[in-house]
Formats: sequence, C-alpha cells, structure tokens
Amino acid sequence: MDYLKITGPTTIEGSVDIAGAKNAALPLIAMTILAKNSVNIGNIPEVVDIRTLLKLLGNLGATYTLGEHQVTIDTTTLNDTKATYSIVKTMRASILVLGPLLARFGHCEVSLPGGCAIGQRPIDLHLKALEKMGAKITIHGGYVRAVAEKGLRGAHIIFDKITVTGTANIIMAAALARGKTTITNAAREPEVAQLCEVLRSSGISIDGIGTAELTIYGTDRRLIDIQPFDVIPDRIEAGTYLCAGAITGSKITLNKVRHDHLEAVIEKFMEMGFTFDITRNSITLYPAKSIKPVSIVTQEYPAFPTDMQAQFMALATQAVGTSTIEERLFENRFMHVSELQRLGADIRLSGSHANITGPSKLFGADVMATDLRASSALVLAAMSADGETDVHRIYHLDRGYEQLEVKLKSLGAKIERLKE
Ligand code: UD1
Repeated sequence: MDYLKITGPTTIEGSVDIAGAKNAALPLIAMTILAKNSVNIGNIPEVVDIRTLLKLLGNLGATYTLGEHQVTIDTTTLNDTKATYSIVKTMRASILVLGPLLARFGHCEVSLPGGCAIGQRPIDLHLKALEKMGAKITIHGGYVRAVAEKGLRGAHIIFDKITVTGTANIIMAAALARGKTTITNAAREPEVAQLCEVLRSSGISIDGIGTAELTIYGTDRRLIDIQPFDVIPDRIEAGTYLCAGAITGSKITLNKVRHDHLEAVIEKFMEMGFTFDITRNSITLYPAKSIKPVSIVTQEYPAFPTDMQAQFMALATQAVGTSTIEERLFENRFMHVSELQRLGADIRLSGSHANITGPSKLFGADVMATDLRASSALVLAAMSADGETDVHRIYHLDRGYEQLEVKLKSLGAKIERLKE
C-alpha cells in the first residue's frame, strides 16, 4: 500500500492546472448508457473512481478507450444490466447506473452500496422517485431490482431532501421516460447542471437548468445522440489547492478553473483575510497577513460544500482565534478530527459542531486517511507541520485527486509517495 511522506513546514509557489471534475464526470459517464452512438468525453480526470465506473460499464458489455484526459465510450453493445457488489462496494457513485439502465432496458439490478466512512448515505430517495415513475422495486440478496418493462413514465418528483446523485439518477431516467418529469427540490450543483446541459445539447428538452425545479421531457426510450464535450473543472480540487496556498502562507495561481463555481469558498477565504486576483479561467490567492477565524456551515450548492469542510478545518488550525464548523450534510464526517489532533490541532467536537482554536503549532506524525476529502486535509496540515508526516491509506486520495503529490511537488512542496 502507498503512503505519502510530507516534510514541513513548506511554502509553495507557481501555478497548477485544475483537472476535470470527478463528480461531474461520473454521472456523465453513466449518461452514455442513454446514447445510440459512441461518445467522446474530454477533460476526464485521471482518478481511480473514473476507472471504477468505466470498469462497471465494461462488465455490462460496453467498450471504451481511455486516453490522456479523454475517453470514448460505446454502450451500444451493453448486454447485461446487473451492477455487481464487487464494484458497487468500492464506489457508492456506481448507483448512478440505476436510472439510465432502468430507463433504457426496462429492468436492472444494482447492488446496494451499503454504509461508508462518512455516514449511512441511503438511496431511499432514488428508489422512491423511480417508483413514482412506474418502476417496481424489490430488494433481495443485497440487490435493488428495478423493473418497468413498458418503460418509465414522467412524474412529479418532490425530493424530501436535496440529493446530488439522486437528482442525476432521476434526470437520466426522465430523459428516456414517456412524457414530462418535474423534479422539485433538485440539487443545483454545477455537476448536475452540466449533466442537464449535455442532455439538452443531445436533443432532450430540459427547463430550469441550475435551479431547484427541473422539467425534463422524455423520449419514450428513444436513445439519444451525444456529441463530444469537455467535463467542467473540479471546484473541490481547486478549493483544495487554494487551501494549500493559504495554509502555507503562499501565493498560488490556479488555471483552467471556474471561479463562479467557487463563490461560497472564495467568500470564506476572504473573510479569513486572503485576497484574490480572478480572471475568466484563473484564480490567484495571496497570503493573509494574519489568518482570521471563520464560521462555516456546510450546505447544498450554492452554499459552502461539505467536500471542502475538512480542508478548511486544517486551515482553521492556523487562524488566530476560534473558528466554528457545522456539518449539516453527513452525520459522520469528522473522522479527520482525531488525525488533525495527532498533529497538534486544538479541536473540540460536539455533535455536528467543531470548534477549532488556533494558531496551533503542528508537528509531523503518522496519520491515517479515512475518506477522500479528509485525506487532503491531512496533507494540507502536514505541509504546515514541523517535521515529517506519513499519511497512510492514501487510496482514498487516489479515488478523487489527480496526481496530488506530483502537482504539489511541482509547486515546491516536499512530498514523496512511498510503499509501506
Ligand atoms: C454527492 C457527491 C459528494 C458530496 C455530496 C454532497 C458525487 C459522486 N458525490 O454525494 O462528493 O459530498 O454529494 O454534496 O457527486 N440522502 C438520503 N437518501 C437518499 C440520498 C441521500 O437520505 O436517497 C441524504 C444523504 O445521506 C446525505 C444527503 O442526503 O445526508 C445528501 O446526500 P447526496 O446529495 O445524495 O450525496 P451523494 O449524491 O451521495
């Protein structure tokens, strides 16, 4: 197993290109199940989660060619509709094949994803919505079996809670359903908006893109023609590199980035005393004279993202005073707290609230990555800690960050990938 050895404290300098968004690429790859042609997708991030979903499609009979930051996927040869436990257990987002498989074939089986490190994360909302569209759903032997032999029909879906992959699943199901589907309380994440935009440019009528109320007019199982497109930049990778600049007191420039997807995050950096130069596709962060404490509540887009919570907690350890973070989306997303404490952070947890008092002098130690974003928080903290930090279990990082250590090294960080 690989681990990262980071020697701190370090400063960084220069610029870094932001990769395509993993969370946009995953639904867009699942969407190719709806295509009647071979689909070409550019700006694909080179991360393990993407390979996992491609492997799943391959197991179902699709063919694909993965090149440098691009993939061509042909699902016309799909001949199986069962997404097995062996793949789904490694990546929850595999559930994204449920809607498109059911819409195209009228039946499918997808393993239940089960629990994960950051909480229970059920899929009840996905299933309830598909049932409203006419699917018969049973759960047997750990699998969701969904049947709608005559096809799905449009319906009015009201999500009790905002769900990102749930919204994506229903959008894809609705694209091939009979008639009109309206989704109320839809997720407004840029990744969901891109899915809608690509479907719209493939001939599906969709109103309300980027809003909480979407209306999708289905084709009644007619497959669609999807033209080549590029995945949007990864706002979470971008936010993580801004944190790397911020925590090390460095100036850093991000290229190939969308600042309009990062408004809530940039706002928090500004409250903490950081300043910015922003152009159409670049962001430069300048160090703060003194880092001010901040108050953060994670919420659905366009509010502050839960996927940036751990990284800001690492940064808050260097603020002068007490910062507060409230995690509203996932009940168990504070696993990084005990690891940050091992480095010397002063963090008090009470339910879904954390109080972080700084500035703390951090010292290198052995720490364990627990989930994707928690892992990057440990790397950030290690860059400002005195001495060597070994971050173990970095397979979590590899799921979603493209060549993190290569990019950080090119910025001057002292970071090595080693084998246990
Ligand atoms: C997506 C992102 C993930 C991000 C999260 C929240 C992808 C691949 N992953 O995850 O990086 O952290 O959004 O922004 O895009 N819920 C239910 N029932 C359901 C579905 C969800 O109760 O059927 C709850 C979840 O437990 C959670 C909340 O709704 O508390 C939001 O979850 P959701 O938006 O579905 O997260 P994901 O789509 O899994």
